[in-house]
Amino acid sequence: MHTLIDQHGRIVRDLRISVTPRCNYRCTYCDPLGVGHKEPAGVVSAQDVANVVEAAVSLGMTSVRFTGGEPLLRKELPAMIRHAKRVAGVEDVAITTNGSLLARRLPELVEAGLDRLNVSLDALDPEAFRLLTSGGRIETVWAGIEAIVAAGLEPVKLNAVVIRGLNEGEVAGLAGLTRDRPFQVRFIEYMHLDNSSPEEYRGKYVSGAETRLLIEAAFGPLQAVPVDPSAPARLYRVDGWRGAIGFINSVSEPFCAGCSRMRLTSDGRLRPCLMHDWELDVRHALRAADPVAAIREAFVLAARNKVATGIKTPVVRDRTMVAIGG
Ligand code: 5AD
Ligand code: SF4
Repeated sequence: MHTLIDQHGRIVRDLRISVTPRCNYRCTYCDPLGVGHKEPAGVVSAQDVANVVEAAVSLGMTSVRFTGGEPLLRKELPAMIRHAKRVAGVEDVAITTNGSLLARRLPELVEAGLDRLNVSLDALDPEAFRLLTSGGRIETVWAGIEAIVAAGLEPVKLNAVVIRGLNEGEVAGLAGLTRDRPFQVRFIEYMHLDNSSPEEYRGKYVSGAETRLLIEAAFGPLQAVPVDPSAPARLYRVDGWRGAIGFINSVSEPFCAGCSRMRLTSDGRLRPCLMHDWELDVRHALRAADPVAAIREAFVLAARNKVATGIKTPVVRDRTMVAIGG
Protein backbone atom coordinates (compact mmCIF):
# COMPACT_ATOMS: atom_id res chain seq x y z
CA MET A 1 0.00 0.00 0.00
CA HIS A 2 1.24 3.43 -0.97
CA THR A 3 1.46 6.55 1.13
CA LEU A 4 2.11 9.99 -0.27
CA ILE A 5 4.46 11.88 2.02
CA ASP A 6 5.27 15.53 1.43
CA GLN A 7 8.69 17.17 1.70
CA HIS A 8 8.04 17.90 5.41
CA GLY A 9 7.12 14.35 6.36
CA ARG A 10 3.37 14.85 6.49
CA ILE A 11 1.15 12.14 5.04
CA VAL A 12 -1.23 13.46 2.39
CA ARG A 13 -4.57 11.76 3.06
CA ASP A 14 -7.36 14.18 2.32
CA LEU A 15 -8.32 15.26 -1.15
CA ARG A 16 -10.57 18.28 -1.61
CA ILE A 17 -12.01 18.77 -5.03
CA SER A 18 -13.67 22.01 -6.07
CA VAL A 19 -16.18 20.91 -8.67
CA THR A 20 -17.30 24.40 -9.68
CA PRO A 21 -16.36 28.01 -8.94
CA ARG A 22 -20.02 28.97 -9.34
CA CYS A 23 -22.18 29.80 -6.38
CA ASN A 24 -25.76 30.95 -6.02
CA TYR A 25 -24.74 32.94 -2.93
CA ARG A 26 -22.03 35.51 -2.71
CA CYS A 27 -20.56 35.61 0.78
CA THR A 28 -18.49 38.74 1.12
CA TYR A 29 -15.47 36.95 2.62
CA CYS A 30 -15.40 34.16 0.09
CA ASP A 31 -16.39 35.81 -3.15
CA PRO A 32 -15.86 39.56 -2.88
CA LEU A 33 -15.41 39.90 -6.64
CA GLY A 34 -18.52 37.99 -7.65
CA VAL A 35 -16.50 35.32 -9.47
CA GLY A 36 -19.13 32.74 -8.57
CA HIS A 37 -21.69 34.48 -10.74
CA LYS A 38 -19.64 34.37 -13.92
CA GLU A 39 -19.58 31.48 -16.35
CA PRO A 40 -16.27 29.70 -15.65
CA ALA A 41 -13.75 29.34 -18.47
CA GLY A 42 -13.29 25.60 -17.99
CA VAL A 43 -14.17 23.16 -15.25
CA VAL A 44 -13.02 19.63 -14.58
CA SER A 45 -15.36 17.02 -16.04
CA ALA A 46 -16.87 14.17 -14.04
CA GLN A 47 -14.40 11.85 -15.79
CA ASP A 48 -11.48 14.12 -14.79
CA VAL A 49 -12.68 14.03 -11.19
CA ALA A 50 -12.97 10.24 -11.31
CA ASN A 51 -9.40 9.95 -12.65
CA VAL A 52 -8.05 12.31 -9.99
CA VAL A 53 -9.80 10.34 -7.23
CA GLU A 54 -8.37 7.07 -8.54
CA ALA A 55 -4.87 8.52 -8.75
CA ALA A 56 -5.15 9.96 -5.23
CA VAL A 57 -6.40 6.70 -3.74
CA SER A 58 -3.67 4.70 -5.47
CA LEU A 59 -1.25 6.93 -3.54
CA GLY A 60 -2.96 6.14 -0.24
CA MET A 61 -5.37 9.06 0.14
CA THR A 62 -8.48 7.96 1.99
CA SER A 63 -10.93 10.84 2.17
CA VAL A 64 -12.57 12.90 -0.55
CA ARG A 65 -14.47 16.14 -0.04
CA PHE A 66 -16.32 17.91 -2.81
CA THR A 67 -16.49 21.68 -2.46
CA GLY A 68 -16.99 24.71 -4.67
CA GLY A 69 -18.28 27.31 -5.11
CA GLU A 70 -21.47 25.49 -4.39
CA PRO A 71 -20.97 21.82 -5.30
CA LEU A 72 -24.68 21.12 -5.66
CA LEU A 73 -24.71 23.38 -8.72
CA ARG A 74 -22.96 20.53 -10.56
CA LYS A 75 -25.64 18.15 -11.76
CA GLU A 76 -23.01 15.38 -11.92
CA LEU A 77 -22.32 15.64 -8.17
CA PRO A 78 -24.26 12.46 -7.29
CA ALA A 79 -22.35 10.57 -10.01
CA MET A 80 -19.04 11.89 -8.65
CA ILE A 81 -19.98 10.75 -5.14
CA ARG A 82 -21.12 7.36 -6.38
CA HIS A 83 -17.85 6.83 -8.23
CA ALA A 84 -15.69 7.94 -5.29
CA LYS A 85 -17.53 5.58 -2.95
CA ARG A 86 -16.81 2.69 -5.27
CA VAL A 87 -13.05 3.22 -5.37
CA ALA A 88 -11.51 0.68 -2.99
CA GLY A 89 -9.56 2.52 -0.28
CA VAL A 90 -11.90 5.50 0.02
CA GLU A 91 -13.09 5.66 3.62
CA ASP A 92 -15.05 8.86 3.61
CA VAL A 93 -16.85 11.02 1.04
CA ALA A 94 -18.12 14.41 2.18
CA ILE A 95 -19.24 17.74 0.81
CA THR A 96 -19.10 21.35 1.98
CA THR A 97 -22.24 23.18 0.90
CA ASN A 98 -24.16 26.37 1.55
CA GLY A 99 -27.23 24.19 2.11
CA SER A 100 -29.52 26.16 -0.17
CA LEU A 101 -30.30 23.25 -2.49
CA LEU A 102 -30.23 20.43 0.06
CA ALA A 103 -33.89 20.20 0.96
CA ARG A 104 -34.55 19.12 -2.61
CA ARG A 105 -31.39 17.21 -3.48
CA LEU A 106 -30.19 15.47 -0.33
CA PRO A 107 -31.95 12.17 -1.14
CA GLU A 108 -29.97 11.62 -4.36
CA LEU A 109 -26.70 12.44 -2.56
CA VAL A 110 -27.46 9.98 0.22
CA GLU A 111 -28.48 7.38 -2.29
CA ALA A 112 -25.12 7.91 -4.05
CA GLY A 113 -23.35 7.07 -0.76
CA LEU A 114 -22.47 10.47 0.73
CA ASP A 115 -21.11 9.97 4.25
CA ARG A 116 -21.09 13.50 5.69
CA LEU A 117 -21.85 17.15 5.01
CA ASN A 118 -20.62 20.46 6.36
CA VAL A 119 -23.03 23.34 5.94
CA SER A 120 -21.86 26.95 5.97
CA LEU A 121 -24.08 28.94 8.32
CA ASP A 122 -22.79 32.37 9.33
CA ALA A 123 -26.00 33.83 10.76
CA LEU A 124 -29.43 32.82 12.00
CA ASP A 125 -31.15 36.18 11.79
CA PRO A 126 -32.87 36.31 8.37
CA GLU A 127 -31.72 39.85 7.58
CA ALA A 128 -28.12 39.24 8.67
CA PHE A 129 -28.09 36.03 6.64
CA ARG A 130 -29.44 37.81 3.57
CA LEU A 131 -26.76 40.50 3.80
CA LEU A 132 -23.90 38.06 4.38
CA THR A 133 -24.80 35.83 1.46
CA SER A 134 -26.07 38.59 -0.85
CA GLY A 135 -29.67 37.45 -0.95
CA GLY A 136 -29.72 33.99 0.66
CA ARG A 137 -32.78 32.85 2.61
CA ILE A 138 -32.13 31.27 5.99
CA GLU A 139 -35.46 29.39 5.83
CA THR A 140 -34.26 27.50 2.75
CA VAL A 141 -30.94 26.54 4.34
CA TRP A 142 -32.65 25.56 7.56
CA ALA A 143 -34.95 23.20 5.64
CA GLY A 144 -31.79 21.64 4.18
CA ILE A 145 -30.25 21.20 7.64
CA GLU A 146 -33.44 19.55 8.90
CA ALA A 147 -33.26 17.22 5.90
CA ILE A 148 -29.76 16.11 6.97
CA VAL A 149 -30.97 15.42 10.50
CA ALA A 150 -33.96 13.48 9.14
CA ALA A 151 -31.62 11.42 6.93
CA GLY A 152 -29.59 10.51 10.05
CA LEU A 153 -26.25 11.81 8.71
CA GLU A 154 -24.80 12.86 12.03
CA PRO A 155 -23.01 14.75 13.42
CA VAL A 156 -24.25 17.70 11.35
CA LYS A 157 -21.40 20.22 11.21
CA LEU A 158 -22.39 23.86 10.80
CA ASN A 159 -19.53 26.23 9.96
CA ALA A 160 -19.51 29.94 10.73
CA VAL A 161 -16.74 32.36 9.73
CA VAL A 162 -16.78 35.19 12.29
CA ILE A 163 -16.21 38.69 10.91
CA ARG A 164 -16.19 41.88 12.93
CA GLY A 165 -18.96 44.26 12.04
CA LEU A 166 -20.78 41.53 10.13
CA ASN A 167 -21.79 38.61 12.34
CA GLU A 168 -20.20 38.78 15.82
CA GLY A 169 -23.75 39.48 16.96
CA GLU A 170 -24.77 36.07 15.61
CA VAL A 171 -22.20 34.05 17.56
CA ALA A 172 -24.27 33.44 20.70
CA GLY A 173 -27.36 32.48 18.69
CA LEU A 174 -25.38 30.02 16.59
CA ALA A 175 -23.72 28.49 19.66
CA GLY A 176 -27.16 28.28 21.27
CA LEU A 177 -28.23 25.81 18.56
CA THR A 178 -26.23 23.16 20.41
CA ARG A 179 -28.46 23.39 23.50
CA ASP A 180 -31.18 20.99 22.32
CA ARG A 181 -29.90 19.69 19.01
CA PRO A 182 -26.95 17.36 18.25
CA PHE A 183 -25.24 19.89 15.97
CA GLN A 184 -21.54 20.61 15.90
CA VAL A 185 -21.36 24.39 15.44
CA ARG A 186 -17.82 25.35 14.45
CA PHE A 187 -16.47 28.89 14.47
CA ILE A 188 -13.78 29.52 11.88
CA GLU A 189 -11.30 32.36 12.00
CA TYR A 190 -11.51 34.60 8.98
CA MET A 191 -8.47 34.02 6.77
CA HIS A 192 -7.02 36.67 4.52
CA LEU A 193 -7.87 35.10 1.19
CA ASP A 194 -9.58 38.04 -0.44
CA ASN A 195 -8.27 41.24 -1.98
CA SER A 196 -8.75 43.46 1.08
CA SER A 197 -5.83 45.52 2.40
CA PRO A 198 -3.98 44.26 5.49
CA GLU A 199 -5.59 47.06 7.53
CA GLU A 200 -9.06 46.17 6.31
CA TYR A 201 -8.42 42.50 7.06
CA ARG A 202 -7.15 43.22 10.58
CA GLY A 203 -10.27 45.28 11.27
CA LYS A 204 -12.52 42.34 10.37
CA TYR A 205 -10.57 39.48 11.96
CA VAL A 206 -11.96 38.04 15.22
CA SER A 207 -9.83 35.47 17.06
CA GLY A 208 -11.31 32.18 18.21
CA ALA A 209 -10.42 33.20 21.78
CA GLU A 210 -12.59 36.30 21.45
CA THR A 211 -15.43 34.28 19.92
CA ARG A 212 -15.18 31.88 22.85
CA LEU A 213 -15.49 34.80 25.29
CA LEU A 214 -18.65 35.95 23.50
CA ILE A 215 -20.12 32.47 23.94
CA GLU A 216 -19.03 32.13 27.57
CA ALA A 217 -20.49 35.56 28.37
CA ALA A 218 -23.83 34.26 27.12
CA PHE A 219 -23.86 30.68 28.38
CA GLY A 220 -21.13 30.23 30.99
CA PRO A 221 -17.89 28.23 30.83
CA LEU A 222 -17.22 25.80 27.98
CA GLN A 223 -15.92 22.34 28.78
CA ALA A 224 -13.34 20.69 26.54
CA VAL A 225 -14.42 17.57 24.66
CA PRO A 226 -11.47 15.27 23.82
CA VAL A 227 -10.75 15.10 20.07
CA ASP A 228 -8.12 13.78 17.74
CA PRO A 229 -5.32 16.32 18.27
CA SER A 230 -4.50 16.33 14.53
CA ALA A 231 -8.04 17.49 13.67
CA PRO A 232 -8.31 21.24 13.00
CA ALA A 233 -11.29 21.82 15.31
CA ARG A 234 -11.05 22.01 19.11
CA LEU A 235 -14.40 20.94 20.59
CA TYR A 236 -16.24 22.12 23.69
CA ARG A 237 -19.69 21.95 25.14
CA VAL A 238 -21.84 23.79 27.61
CA ASP A 239 -22.50 21.40 30.48
CA GLY A 240 -25.65 19.40 29.79
CA TRP A 241 -26.13 20.54 26.20
CA ARG A 242 -26.61 18.03 23.40
CA GLY A 243 -24.37 19.44 20.70
CA ALA A 244 -20.77 20.64 20.59
CA ILE A 245 -19.12 23.97 19.88
CA GLY A 246 -15.90 23.94 17.86
CA PHE A 247 -13.17 26.42 17.09
CA ILE A 248 -11.05 26.28 13.96
CA ASN A 249 -8.35 28.81 14.75
CA SER A 250 -6.53 28.63 11.43
CA VAL A 251 -4.95 32.06 11.91
CA SER A 252 -4.13 32.25 15.65
CA GLU A 253 -3.26 28.55 16.03
CA PRO A 254 -2.32 27.28 12.57
CA PHE A 255 -2.54 23.51 12.24
CA CYS A 256 -0.06 23.32 9.36
CA ALA A 257 2.11 20.75 11.18
CA GLY A 258 -0.71 18.22 10.96
CA CYS A 259 -1.98 19.23 7.52
CA SER A 260 -2.91 16.22 5.43
CA ARG A 261 -4.65 18.01 2.57
CA MET A 262 -4.27 18.42 -1.13
CA ARG A 263 -6.70 20.34 -3.30
CA LEU A 264 -7.84 20.18 -6.89
CA THR A 265 -9.23 23.49 -8.13
CA SER A 266 -12.23 23.48 -10.43
CA ASP A 267 -10.06 24.63 -13.34
CA GLY A 268 -7.74 21.63 -13.03
CA ARG A 269 -4.83 22.62 -10.83
CA LEU A 270 -3.42 20.82 -7.81
CA ARG A 271 -2.98 23.23 -4.91
CA PRO A 272 -1.06 21.83 -1.92
CA CYS A 273 -1.81 24.77 0.41
CA LEU A 274 -4.75 27.13 0.71
CA MET A 275 -2.50 29.92 1.96
CA HIS A 276 0.21 29.59 -0.67
CA ASP A 277 -0.45 30.46 -4.30
CA TRP A 278 1.66 27.68 -5.85
CA GLU A 279 -0.50 25.51 -8.11
CA LEU A 280 0.31 22.76 -10.58
CA ASP A 281 -1.70 22.84 -13.79
CA VAL A 282 -2.75 19.23 -14.46
CA ARG A 283 -4.96 19.79 -17.48
CA HIS A 284 -2.37 18.19 -19.77
CA ALA A 285 -2.21 15.17 -17.42
CA LEU A 286 -5.99 14.87 -17.53
CA ARG A 287 -5.75 14.58 -21.34
CA ALA A 288 -2.87 12.04 -21.31
CA ALA A 289 -3.25 8.53 -22.75
CA ASP A 290 -3.16 7.14 -19.20
CA PRO A 291 -4.58 10.03 -17.17
CA VAL A 292 -4.51 8.19 -13.83
CA ALA A 293 -0.78 7.50 -14.16
CA ALA A 294 -0.10 11.07 -15.31
CA ILE A 295 -2.05 12.57 -12.42
CA ARG A 296 -0.28 10.28 -9.98
CA GLU A 297 3.03 11.83 -11.12
CA ALA A 298 1.51 15.27 -10.68
CA PHE A 299 0.44 14.44 -7.11
CA VAL A 300 3.98 13.39 -6.26
CA LEU A 301 5.34 16.66 -7.66
CA ALA A 302 2.68 18.69 -5.84
CA ALA A 303 3.46 16.94 -2.53
CA ARG A 304 7.11 17.87 -3.03
CA ASN A 305 5.99 21.49 -3.28
CA LYS A 306 3.71 21.54 -0.24
CA VAL A 307 5.11 24.31 1.97
CA ALA A 308 5.57 23.79 5.71
CA THR A 309 3.29 26.72 6.39
CA GLY A 310 1.55 29.02 3.95
CA ILE A 311 2.09 32.71 4.32
CA LYS A 312 -0.34 34.58 2.20
CA THR A 313 1.14 36.86 -0.41
CA PRO A 314 -1.06 39.52 -2.05
CA VAL A 315 -3.99 37.78 -3.64
CA VAL A 316 -3.85 36.96 -7.31
CA ARG A 317 -6.90 38.69 -8.74
CA ASP A 318 -9.86 36.33 -9.12
CA ARG A 319 -8.12 33.68 -7.00
CA THR A 320 -10.30 34.26 -3.94
CA MET A 321 -11.74 31.38 -1.91
CA VAL A 322 -14.66 30.70 -4.21
CA ALA A 323 -12.16 29.94 -6.99
CA ILE A 324 -9.95 27.67 -4.87
CA GLY A 325 -12.47 25.61 -2.96
CA GLY A 326 -13.47 25.93 0.72
N1 5AD B 1 -11.74 32.45 5.84
C1 5AD B 1 -12.12 31.31 6.46
N2 5AD B 1 -12.94 30.39 5.91
C2 5AD B 1 -13.41 30.66 4.69
N3 5AD B 1 -14.24 29.98 3.89
C3 5AD B 1 -14.41 30.67 2.76
N4 5AD B 1 -13.68 31.80 2.78
C4 5AD B 1 -13.05 31.83 3.98
C5 5AD B 1 -12.17 32.74 4.62
N5 5AD B 1 -11.77 33.85 4.03
C6 5AD B 1 -14.82 28.69 4.25
C7 5AD B 1 -16.08 28.84 5.03
C8 5AD B 1 -17.15 28.36 4.16
C9 5AD B 1 -16.41 27.42 3.25
C10 5AD B 1 -17.05 27.27 1.91
O1 5AD B 1 -15.13 27.98 3.09
O2 5AD B 1 -16.01 27.94 6.09
O3 5AD B 1 -18.10 27.71 4.95
FE1 SF4 C 1 -20.83 30.44 -1.94
FE2 SF4 C 1 -19.95 29.11 0.16
FE3 SF4 C 1 -18.43 31.00 -0.88
FE4 SF4 C 1 -20.69 31.67 0.38
S1 SF4 C 1 -18.88 30.66 1.31
S2 SF4 C 1 -20.01 32.47 -1.64
S3 SF4 C 1 -22.03 30.01 -0.08
S4 SF4 C 1 -19.00 29.10 -1.87
